[in-house]
Amino acid sequence: MKIAIGSDHGGFNLKPVLIEYLEKRGIEYKDFGCYDAKSTDYNEYALAVSEAVAAGEYDLGILICGTGIGMSIVANKVKGIRCAHCHDVFSARMTKLHNNANVLAFGERVIGPGLMLDIVQAFIDTPFSGEERHAKRVAKIAAQEEKNFK
Ligand code: RB5
Repeated sequence: MKIAIGSDHGGFNLKPVLIEYLEKRGIEYKDFGCYDAKSTDYNEYALAVSEAVAAGEYDLGILICGTGIGMSIVANKVKGIRCAHCHDVFSARMTKLHNNANVLAFGERVIGPGLMLDIVQAFIDTPFSGEERHAKRVAKIAAQEEKNFK
């Protein structure tokens, strides 16, 4: 499993906690920035992580900004990305089971490190259910994308 991660300055303090967790679990990851706490635009990190996931270079992406909202909006404009904005464990689990989400976004100004790690664990460890009704809906998203990106 390979994970692409990114944050802006608003998510910069939570990212080391995420990195420590991934390293402890021996999960391969790449940090696409930012690399200091200077004010910056969430757009470029969301785009870099999402493009790497969409290209198949990484299995999943994890994005952190102040709220997670800017990151998720940008990520969901990349073809092939299903980004879930989650601040609870139930949603993180369900979005894998039902939506086969490939990117997770959350906000450092919304949740603390303990809850973040529970959310990340649920997201990483829950597989897509593969159930027909969910697979059909995910396929519909892809079909809608084909139309929109033409
Ligand atoms: C930065 O101040 C903040 O707007 C950003 O981190 C994020 O919350 C945007 O959605």
